[in-house]
Amino acid sequence: MAGMLTPNLPQAATTIARDGNALRILDQTRLPHAEHYLTLATLDDAAQAIGVMQVRGAPLIGATAAGGLALAMQAGARDTDLARAVDLLAATRPTAVNLQWALARMRERLAPLPPAARAAAAWDEAESIWEQDRACNHAIGRHGLELLARLTVAHGRPLKIMTHCNAGWLAAVAWGTALAPVYLAHLQGLQPQLWVSETRPRNQGLLTAWELARAGVAHTLVADNACGQLLASGQVDVVITGADRIAANGDVANKVGTLLKALAAQAYEVPFYVAAPCSTVDMNCRRGADIPIEQRDAEEVRVVQGSSGACRIAPASTACANPAFDVTPAALLAGIITEHAIIAPGALATLMARPAPVEQQASFS
Ligand code: MRU
Repeated sequence: MAGMLTPNLPQAATTIARDGNALRILDQTRLPHAEHYLTLATLDDAAQAIGVMQVRGAPLIGATAAGGLALAMQAGARDTDLARAVDLLAATRPTAVNLQWALARMRERLAPLPPAARAAAAWDEAESIWEQDRACNHAIGRHGLELLARLTVAHGRPLKIMTHCNAGWLAAVAWGTALAPVYLAHLQGLQPQLWVSETRPRNQGLLTAWELARAGVAHTLVADNACGQLLASGQVDVVITGADRIAANGDVANKVGTLLKALAAQAYEVPFYVAAPCSTVDMNCRRGADIPIEQRDAEEVRVVQGSSGACRIAPASTACANPAFDVTPAALLAGIITEHAIIAPGALATLMARPAPVEQQASFS
């Protein structure tokens, strides 16, 4: 579990670790008010943690599902156990494709093995998925850093970057996606300044603010509704968000509210980038309209969570809709920052044929 308890620097931080025959996670429902770790001992614990968003973010959901399958195989590893565990985990959240990606990879490794060999192989594969996520996100950081360094020179001053939701190390095994380039830029002395949008209804922007504060990155929290004004008044140089699923045509599903930022960014000619590993690309999904959008409980809109607990802001009788994601058309993107390169949304097919990069030395000098 090296690094788990010392997440001040993003390269040392990790959100999930094996702890004997269990998983240890940081409970994100308690952040930013309390740093509380949880032990997940069973398949049901893992499915529950994903469903109630104790873990969240596309890469971390996939990573937790892989660990959940290892927990399941410890308790029973017949073909029926494997199928049941995969089905249970697959049903936890519908939009982030990393979940299906990780489960498919686990099943491919485990299905040909005899039941007695499955638990050990499941841990091995889960840890390799975690390692791949760390390596891919660091590679995303390196490609994104080149972009941010170029833009910093072009503007002749530190960049003002807008992001949405939380696509930092809390949303992944390590580093994060949209925030990986920001962390590397910070470590390089480029002094990036972040606009962090609150991200109603679950306020994942507060997680981003928490992460950035711990890493010493300058940031300002704003209400979601302030972002159009910031983009219109020249206070944003570039927008970078994460992604939960990218369709084959480059359309991107991400946390609800992303689309409005992308539309405003286009109107005011601010480049809008998405950062995501290839495990977030779904070549079986032809276009964004085919991506399933998770509809979450209306109570998330009516009740906000704060440092002193839950606060009801609308009566239970108020009708609410809670689509958790939206789809940004490929045409609004300046590029997709992946572990291989920054690519045009139309270049996904070529990109997806390439193997994942091997982690390079995480050196910041
Ligand atoms: O519903 P969540 O919190 O799991 O939301 C997913 C996300 O974290 C964001 O949409 C993020 O931008 C993409 S995942 C790095």
